[in-house]
Amino acid sequence: MTRTDKNPSAATGTAVTVRGLVKHYGETKALDGVDLDVREGTVMGVLGPNGAGKTTLVRILSTLLTPDAGQATVAGYDVVHQPRQLRRVIGLTGQYASVDEKLPGWENLYMIGRLLDLSRREARARADELLERFSLTEAAKRPASTYSGGMRRRLDLAASMIGRPAVLYLDEPTTGLDPRTRNEVWDEVKRMVGDGVTVLLTTQYMEEAEQLATELTVVDRGKVIAGGGIEELKAKVGGRALRVRPADPAQLRPLAGWIDDLGVTGLAGTTVDAERGSVLVPVLSDEQLTAVIGAVTARGITLSSVTTELPSLDEVFLSLTGHRAGAPQDTVPADNREEVAV
Ligand SMILES: Nc1ncnc2c1ncn2[C@@H]1O[C@H](COP(=O)(O)OP(=O)(O)O)[C@@H](O)[C@H]1O
Ligand SMILES: [Mg+2]
Repeated sequence: MTRTDKNPSAATGTAVTVRGLVKHYGETKALDGVDLDVREGTVMGVLGPNGAGKTTLVRILSTLLTPDAGQATVAGYDVVHQPRQLRRVIGLTGQYASVDEKLPGWENLYMIGRLLDLSRREARARADELLERFSLTEAAKRPASTYSGGMRRRLDLAASMIGRPAVLYLDEPTTGLDPRTRNEVWDEVKRMVGDGVTVLLTTQYMEEAEQLATELTVVDRGKVIAGGGIEELKAKVGGRALRVRPADPAQLRPLAGWIDDLGVTGLAGTTVDAERGSVLVPVLSDEQLTAVIGAVTARGITLSSVTTELPSLDEVFLSLTGHRAGAPQDTVPADNREEVAV
């Protein structure tokens, strides 16, 4: 099987088009009029807290769920009217691994290949190739139940690639993974994107969006609350913060003052974090960051650490909506809400 083609009548350049998509569960508006465009060959990050409607969107775009209203097309195929063609051009990796635990990694991939109508020979070759590619060859014959979290997630990614999808959905691909494993998954996703796959990625992490996405759509309670390029959005919410710690604690406050007086174009004021002995400098560009570090170094100030920090999803939300992610407006204070396990 070769890569399945998009609908010949599909508009060029756009892989996913969503217009006015609605899905309600009783009183819950899981999706409440969502618009979205994903350009071919790009990674669209759908950023939102638990319950925002991300999985509902992915399930509709995978034809697993029917919308109440609105339209959506993927590779030119309508989610409601052309489900069979649509399913042939997509790959899906969910928040929960979908592999069969009892089967070895190789068998899992082979079986999916056969389900996708590959010949025995093709399915065998594809399983070998993908295990190699996702660094699972050595574990090929072991049951998936013996795999680590990261290996399982890699097997899941491999499974979603068997049909050579043109459009891949990654629904919170790293939720619940430790930071090292998360980095491994990010590397794999970057390689897949390098191969030209269009990706729709949902995430709760600003950092993940920053790592992988070209563009962002921020969703909250079934609605799109912001969208655009990553840089654009970061600028809107205040971008990154540079954290510098002088080796000599006595230099903390003078350092903050010097940075404030530097006159770097567009630089916002510094904040002194006395507890951690560091100065926080909001930066909007790599040029600003370099200018600040350069100037500090030129002054002969020895620094014991330099790090950059992204705004958290919570800060992004607060900045965009004026309320915290997940907290219903003017009702229950954030602290009193029960955490929902993911
Ligand atoms: N099958 C369902 N029945 C009832 N409510 C649902 C169902 N699926 C999702 N929801 C609700 O819809 C909202 C969006 O859920 P979901 O799409 O899973 O959000 P996310 O993936 O962003 O965490 C949530 O309030 C959730 O509880
Ligand atoms: Mg979800």
